[in-house]
Amino acid sequence: MKTNIEKDNSYNTIDYKVQKNGKDAGTAQLEFLEIGENVGELMDDLFTKKGHKSGEVVAHISDFYPHGWRADSYECLQDQMRQGLGTEILEDMLQECTKKGISLLYISTDIHYMENFCEKHDFKNTKIPGLNSEAIYFVKEL
Ligand SMILES: CC(C)(COP(=O)(O)OP(=O)(O)OC[C@H]1O[C@@H](n2cnc3c(N)ncnc32)[C@H](O)[C@@H]1OP(=O)(O)O)[C@@H](O)C(=O)NCCC(=O)NCCS
Repeated sequence: MKTNIEKDNSYNTIDYKVQKNGKDAGTAQLEFLEIGENVGELMDDLFTKKGHKSGEVVAHISDFYPHGWRADSYECLQDQMRQGLGTEILEDMLQECTKKGISLLYISTDIHYMENFCEKHDFKNTKIPGLNSEAIYFVKEL
């Protein structure tokens, strides 16, 4: 399968579009937020306790469905997962953070596969409830 990743940088987001064999297959998005401004109270508290400063820019993975949003359930794309696509996109996100001097990356997820993925890539499980009641925040210091 031929996989192609397109990237679109805008002021405060980077959007990834994945095509497989020339067809749109999935998306991912990295957004840049400011502590004390738009990361939300819970994360403001956590990040400042970790020594980060109000006004510091951090990165949030706001979308991570490189195989499509139904890949793990209805579409049963198990045969396409675990071949490194997620890691390739995450590594690009990490490089973008490095370029911008960002030292903290986080995501909120309630999906078991993503939790495994985060743990594999040394994100710390904060055990703090995420964007919906089932979700948990994972944080990676860079
Ligand atoms: C999370 C996801 C994007 C990873 O993509 P990927 O292309 O499989 O990523 P990689 O091949 O680089 O990494 C594989 C790792 O992801 C995790 N993972 C992927 N598929 C998994 C599965 N079926 N069961 C358990 N863990 C899985 C594991 O940690 C795995 O590492 P391992 O194979 O060494 O155990 C993919 O599982 C997916 O599309 N999940 C459904 C959508 C989703 O959860 N999005 C997150 C929204 S917040």
